[in-house]
Amino acid sequence: MSSQKLLEVVESLRLNSLLEIAKTSRFWINLISAYGTYKVIYYLFFDPLRHIPGLWWSRFTEFPLLIRRFNGTQEEYVQQLHKRFGSVVRVGPHSVSVKKVVDIRRVLSSYKYPKAEVYEKALLDAEEIFSTRDEQFNRLRRRQVGPAFSTTGLDSVEDIVLDVGSRAFKKKIETGIEKGNGSYTINYFDNFQSLTADIIGELAFGKSFGALESEKPSIIRLVNSTITISVLDTLIPPVKYIPFLFSKYKSDKQKMVDFTSSCIDARREAIEKNEFDKGRIDILQMYLNAHDLDGSPITKDELIAEIVLMLVAGTDTTSVTMTWLLHFYLMYPEVYKKVVAEIDEAFPDRSAIIRYKEARQNLPYFHATVYECMRMKPAVGGYLPRDSSSDGIQLSDHYIPPSTELLLFIEGAHNDESVWTSPKKYIPERFMGESGKELAKNLVVFASGVRICAGRK
Ligand code: HEM
Repeated sequence: MSSQKLLEVVESLRLNSLLEIAKTSRFWINLISAYGTYKVIYYLFFDPLRHIPGLWWSRFTEFPLLIRRFNGTQEEYVQQLHKRFGSVVRVGPHSVSVKKVVDIRRVLSSYKYPKAEVYEKALLDAEEIFSTRDEQFNRLRRRQVGPAFSTTGLDSVEDIVLDVGSRAFKKKIETGIEKGNGSYTINYFDNFQSLTADIIGELAFGKSFGALESEKPSIIRLVNSTITISVLDTLIPPVKYIPFLFSKYKSDKQKMVDFTSSCIDARREAIEKNEFDKGRIDILQMYLNAHDLDGSPITKDELIAEIVLMLVAGTDTTSVTMTWLLHFYLMYPEVYKKVVAEIDEAFPDRSAIIRYKEARQNLPYFHATVYECMRMKPAVGGYLPRDSSSDGIQLSDHYIPPSTELLLFIEGAHNDESVWTSPKKYIPERFMGESGKELAKNLVVFASGVRICAGRK
């Protein structure tokens, strides 16, 4: 027998005996025990996060946290973990929850700790300002769209915002009351959602969607479908390639893209025909003038991705906050009375429109009620995930090793007792005066630092 043949026989014997062994339960018990022993030794002596306090399961899995996220109990659960283990708590094999304002602001202060990998899947296929993890790309986009959010930019569109926003809403309510002979039922959340969508429509798409006038605005459905199908694509990748799966969402997403594309064409045409008001500094205009890192003009797909992103980032965040504010006014009538009295005193002429700058200067108590609302009910709640970078980072008493996911816990920061007195109570007065201005710096409702919300003004 040649040596080659001999080797083949030995190999087949090995394989056969291995298959035989694999059939026995003893084999599996031994295998599982060996794996378990390896894991225990690893987590006790070698795991880089072994010094971070947390529940035992967090060394092995993040699953219990995910369940809480999906059933809506994450906030209470994580608050309890922090109460028990301190300001930095391990919540998964590679992730820690961070709740102290100083730690959160430290992480957010620089591009050194980029957005975590979960952001990589953008809403549409092209990279955009929000989901990018690339410092240069983000800097470029923020610079390009920045003028639209500057004081000059916002001044240039204030009348449009007033028209499609407050005036349109006032008219809708007045008409409703008139038709109902003094009685009118309204769903505030739905209407605030339509109102914010219409405003962003004007600023980023070049025209209002008319959502406020419609009973069932299709734009809200298109946005919701776009978000849903993008999440499904990320969670279950084959969904993207099987056309009949979730086809309604897919077709809505395509409609969203086509509609955005037509809005871009319309603006370009208006510019060509000299029909566009050059004094208007809005989001769409800033992006139309933009280019990429290599100097080439921004492509249409990128343009669409940036514009749709603005609608998604700005609509629910703003309308949810407005709804909570109204809710607080109803829960605390004495606060509401003070707000009304402040407005009446500063602006006795009820028929005059109050402009943004005047409101900023003359309505400190009203602004305090908004801050307190955003502290207690941040529209982007839960976690902002970041990466601890290749150097790691010192947070409170803990050194967090490289490549750890830092879950920055917004509600934790907004209830941090070392910063806020009686954090569970709605007390707008805390934001009044000079000390109130200082205190407001501890809010992270719009994140903070280099990736702070571009639309916060
Ligand atoms: C009350 C209203 C809003 C709240 C609470 C809010 C909150 C936030 C938060 C927390 C982030 C950071 C998210 C993260 O890092 O994962 C963010 C980012 C962002 N927001 Fe807002 N937002 C609001 C309104 C708006 C509006 C109206 C727009 C635009 C029209 C907008 C555009 C953006 C953009 C473009 C980013 C990404 C910035 C970057 O990564 O460089 N937001 N927002």
